[in-house]
Amino acid sequence: MSKLPPKIGVLGSGNGSNFASIAEAIAKGRLHAEIALVLSDNPAAGILQKARALGIPAEALPQSKFRTKLEAEIEKLAAEKLLAAGVELVVLAGYMRMVKAPLLGKFPRRMVNIHPSLLPAFPGLEAWKQALVAGVPVTGCTVHWVDKGMDTGEIIAQTEVPVFQEDTAESLHARIQVAEHTLYPRVLKYLLQDA
Ligand code: GRF
Repeated sequence: MSKLPPKIGVLGSGNGSNFASIAEAIAKGRLHAEIALVLSDNPAAGILQKARALGIPAEALPQSKFRTKLEAEIEKLAAEKLLAAGVELVVLAGYMRMVKAPLLGKFPRRMVNIHPSLLPAFPGLEAWKQALVAGVPVTGCTVHWVDKGMDTGEIIAQTEVPVFQEDTAESLHARIQVAEHTLYPRVLKYLLQDA
């Protein structure tokens, strides 16, 4: 008898290409998991449309009046929804706000994020642009545990990505995203294998 797949919840603000790579890994049998719920702070986010197209429950959270975080009540609501859906691991995939105690506290060492640089280099926004400005020959992507800092949690895995002389912000970000789409499902498989 095979074990039931562990349930994950995905939180994202944008396009949802990392979500799509995780959903594809599950569909192709490369990752034994079930995406039980997708939540977004942005009702127009592509991640919600992509999830709904796949028949995965997807909800927009109430509008926040802050830009960099959610109100405690909204985080509390998000945590309740994730717990009610049976989520064991929360996967941040392009979630553009800081996660605070009302949500983080419900998933201690049960929340991961992907960041488009080789942390601890270039935390924060548009890390690929930061890499271009710094003139580094190599950047990459990092999957890490989420803590209360900005991109400061313990690193789980990284992939290096070369920076070419002719790179633009767009071309470099696109190359990093290709690496992300392989790294994230692999890390989830590693984290969930004993779940
Ligand atoms: C990714 O580059 C990820 O590293 C960063 O935000 C971007 C999200 O892209 N945190 P997508 O929404 O998964 O396409």
